[in-house]
Amino acid sequence: MKRIVSLLLAVVMLFALASCGGKEEDATGEYVPDADPSPSKSAESVLFEKSVTVTTGRDVKVKFYGRDGGLSSIGVTPNGAEEVKHDISEASEKVLGRVEYAVSDDPEFKFFTEDVNFDGYLDFAIQSWKKDGGTPYYCWFWSTLENTYTFGAALENPVFDRANSKIYCDVTEGNDEYINVYSVLNGSVMLETSQSVTATPSFETDLSAFEQYMNPADRDGFLILANKETELGEDYIPENLVDIANTRQDGRATAQMVETAAKALEALYIDMYAAGYTDVSVTSAYRSYADQKYIFDGFLNQNLADGYDYDTALAMVLSDTAAPGTSEHQTGLCCDMHSSPSADAARTQFPTTPAFKWLTDNAWKYGFILRYPEDKVDITGYSYESWHYRFVGRYHAAKIHVMGLCLEEYLQQINK
Ligand code: DAL
Ligand code: ZN
Repeated sequence: MKRIVSLLLAVVMLFALASCGGKEEDATGEYVPDADPSPSKSAESVLFEKSVTVTTGRDVKVKFYGRDGGLSSIGVTPNGAEEVKHDISEASEKVLGRVEYAVSDDPEFKFFTEDVNFDGYLDFAIQSWKKDGGTPYYCWFWSTLENTYTFGAALENPVFDRANSKIYCDVTEGNDEYINVYSVLNGSVMLETSQSVTATPSFETDLSAFEQYMNPADRDGFLILANKETELGEDYIPENLVDIANTRQDGRATAQMVETAAKALEALYIDMYAAGYTDVSVTSAYRSYADQKYIFDGFLNQNLADGYDYDTALAMVLSDTAAPGTSEHQTGLCCDMHSSPSADAARTQFPTTPAFKWLTDNAWKYGFILRYPEDKVDITGYSYESWHYRFVGRYHAAKIHVMGLCLEEYLQQINK
C-alpha cells in the first residue's frame, strides 16, 4: 500500500512539475504564468468529466478539455488535490507527455510513457511507472479517438500486439502472479484471459513430487536459445544428461535430456497417459554435435543423390534440420514425440490427433512449449514441427502459451 500511496504522490508531483515547468518569479516574488504560446487559440471547455477509482481505492477525477473540436488537455485531480492540467493538443497519440524521471519522496520511481497505435482500431497512450528493479508498474490507457479513459491497473511488462489488438501484462496480486490478456476493441480495453503463472495448475494425477522440476527454482535457467543466428558451437555439451523414461520401444537407444527437463517430461507422460493418450513416445531428444552432423549430412547427401544442385539440396535440408552446432537438440532441453510411425508421417498425421490437441492445451503446465509453430516459420526459420517440444519451465511456458509467441519473440519481449 505504501508503495502505491507513494506512487500516487509521485503522480501528483509529476503533474505538478509538468504544469509549473515554465513559470518564473517576478520582482514581487509572485509566479507569473508562461506567455500563452498561441494567444489566438479559442478558449477551452470541459468536454466531459470522469471519476476513476484506481486500484488503491482512491478516486481520481479526470476532466477532458476540448478546443476547436479537438481534445486539448486532460486535467487530473488525484485524491482531492488541486487539478493539474496537461496539454495534449499536439498529437493524438501523445497524451501525457514524456517524462523520464519524476521527482518524488521516493527517488526510486521512474516515469515513462509509450504511445500505442492499434492500426484500424484506436490510438492508445499509456503512462506507466515503476520502481527500478522491475517492481510493479502502473498503466493507464486512454482512448484518444474516443477521448475516454479506459482503466488503470497495476501492471508489469506490458507487451503490445498491435496486429491482433491485444495487450499482455503481468499482474501481481498478493503472492500470485498472472499474465493478463486484454483485447482492444471499439474504444475499450477488455480483460480476456487471466492465467496464473505461479499457482500450481490442475493435473490429472498427483504430480507434487515433480513440481520442483516442472516449475524450477532457477526460473530463467532454461531459456537458452539455439537457432540459425545463435549457435551453440561444436563444444557445447549440457550438464546432467540422464536417460528419459519414454523413448519409443523400437530398438533405438534410450534418449537423454537434461535432468530437470527429463523429470518434467516424465510428469507430462504420467498425466498424458492418465488422460488416455498412451500412444505418444519420444523418438529423439539430446543430440550431440556429431549426432546432428550425421543426420544433417545424411539428408544433404540424399538430396544430392536425388539430383538437386548443392545450393538447392542445402536449402531443402536447412528448412527442416538444423546445421550441426545450431540444433536445439544439442541443448538437451527438447524432444521429438509423436504417435506416428515415422517423422514424415507425423508431419501430416500427428497434428490431427487428440493427443496433439492435449499437448497443445497442456504441455505448458509441465514446462514445455511447442518450439516450431505453424504460424512462426518466418521467425524460427524451420517448418512446422508438431512433435518438437522444448522445456523452458512452467513460468515462461505459461506466458508463451497464453501470448501465442515463439521462443525467439518471447525472449525479445523479455529482453533475454
Ligand atoms: N528439426 C530441428 C529444427 C533440428 O534439427 O534441430
Ligand atoms: Zn526436434
